Amino acid sequence: MCGIIGYIGMQEAYPIVIKGLKRLEYRGYDSAGIALYDNDDIQLYKTKGKVAELENLVSETTVSGSIGLGHTRWATHGVPNDVNSHPHFSNSGDLVIIHNGIIENYAPLKEELTKRGYVFHSDTDTEVLVNLIEDVKKSNNISLFEALPIALNQCVGAYAIAVFDRTNPEEVIVAKLGSPLAIGVGAYEKEFFIASDASPFIEYTNNAIYLEDGELASIKLGQGVEIVKITDGQNVDPYVQKLQLNLEQIEKGGFDHFMLKEIYEQPNAILDTYRGRLLPDEGIVKMAGVDDHIERFTKAKRIIIVACGTSWHAGLVAEYIFEEFARIPVEVEYASEFRYRNPIIDKDDIVIAISQSGETADTMAALKLAKEKGAFLFGVCNVVGSSISRITDAGAYTHAGPEIGVASTKAFTTQIVVLSLIALRIAKEKGSMGHKDYHYLLHEMEQIPSKVKIALEENDKIKEIAQAYKDAANFLYLGRGFNFPVALEGALKLKEISYIHAEGYPAAEMKHGPIALVDEQMPVVVIATRKGHYEKVVSNIQELKSRKGKIIGIVPKGDVQVKQIADHVIEIPETLEPFTPLLSTISLQLLSYHIAVLLEKNVDQPRNLAKSVTVE
Ligand code: M6R
Repeated sequence: MCGIIGYIGMQEAYPIVIKGLKRLEYRGYDSAGIALYDNDDIQLYKTKGKVAELENLVSETTVSGSIGLGHTRWATHGVPNDVNSHPHFSNSGDLVIIHNGIIENYAPLKEELTKRGYVFHSDTDTEVLVNLIEDVKKSNNISLFEALPIALNQCVGAYAIAVFDRTNPEEVIVAKLGSPLAIGVGAYEKEFFIASDASPFIEYTNNAIYLEDGELASIKLGQGVEIVKITDGQNVDPYVQKLQLNLEQIEKGGFDHFMLKEIYEQPNAILDTYRGRLLPDEGIVKMAGVDDHIERFTKAKRIIIVACGTSWHAGLVAEYIFEEFARIPVEVEYASEFRYRNPIIDKDDIVIAISQSGETADTMAALKLAKEKGAFLFGVCNVVGSSISRITDAGAYTHAGPEIGVASTKAFTTQIVVLSLIALRIAKEKGSMGHKDYHYLLHEMEQIPSKVKIALEENDKIKEIAQAYKDAANFLYLGRGFNFPVALEGALKLKEISYIHAEGYPAAEMKHGPIALVDEQMPVVVIATRKGHYEKVVSNIQELKSRKGKIIGIVPKGDVQVKQIADHVIEIPETLEPFTPLLSTISLQLLSYHIAVLLEKNVDQPRNLAKSVTVE
């Protein structure tokens, strides 16, 4: 986690870096700092708290400089405080560094450097790294560019770093292993931007170089970017990509929060996800990443899905969908668990990684393990050019557009859409599904964006329900079949932004233990779709009602039975059962959003979290 940004050019760096830090705050927001170079002097400002607090701190002074490095932190080593905030100086004060990642072997390195006379002011691994670089540079009497690979080859862990050397102020050096790093190339190479993603520099340039793992780049004003491999110094040709992102996509557009904006973007996001891929009238699904490997998919003995958090829940929905449509057995694994056992992977297995950011360290590590074992890797990512999209053999982007709110919303629904399309594509090829059902599903998918719009119309009613239950200490979320993972997702959404304890369960599991929790204080959100074992769910609701639980039913439009027994109902349009998660999720996203707003929580940046989890 953590967001890094740098500027080297002709403009004042401060406003560019501060604005960039705000855009990157989703990556971590417990402290922030900035270093500016001007007239042989490095001015350093850092503070615990958000970027706004850094701005307050800096507002008391006059700053200038056309080279700047900024950092917004998600603490790993050392509590969030002023001293542990980045940037960090080396002991001589010549080098300054910003770092996203973890140096795992920082303790022995620190011990060795301490013996050599280095003094440490913070508890961070980053301060160890910058002094290691200084030590290598000084003891070999070499340049920063020459010293960095030697120092980095001694490090175990992950990093995206930018380092500046006051004794050579024409250059900033960056390096990457495991954490993302993009270089924005301004016009005529008169200015360069360094950032964890392209959002901080998109208004200045849409030319970007994404550094690969194990690469180091020297960025020199007017001279361009020189890239080498950290391990052997081999030159790499910089590949400049044209970005599609625009400024509007990364701003709030009149909504109070990014989360709400992203919830409301879902009709369009889903449309963008299937645009050009779903051709109902022709009865086909086109997906290059699948088409090119169709035999692998049709012959797959098993699909293993690896993911974390909300993406893992999308994987669970996909398990039901793949098994139903394509008749391929699916296992859904927490990436963090999968990688630490000795999983049995066959060469006929396909490993699908699902990740919004495409940078989640646990998911990356699971993929690396699967690759070593010879599996075919497929990625379902949102962020174009992300690490997961690059390590996989093939993939399909979700095209949801940037998701800034830490709580994942449109990423989840678009992941389900992509995975449904893949399952349909395979089903057609294998003939594992009836012709009629297949065509119904294709046509119904086309209707989903307008049905999501209808689901969103319940917003005011959901707000009232949120008002009634915002002070509850606990929530239960229940669903069955395709909507069991949605219950898990609803509970996660509530936990992460309102800090209310919530659990998701398959509705029928209540009687095996959790029903003991139910009393008049317990709101229970129950998803009861028409073909989702409706009668059984109604019985489950009766059981909960008899224990005085407060029932919030998510029901198909026009439902009567649940309405009679539930305390509240939220309606969603009818759709084919496999697609109901795309609608029921909307109600749960809005419910958690409104509860969190009413509780005055920081919806877009909940405590202790970060959007992109690049630590293991
Ligand atoms: O970027 P990814 O999809 O790999 O992220 C995985 C999880 O960290 C993420 O879904 C997390 O659980 C969200 N904050 C949930 O809203």
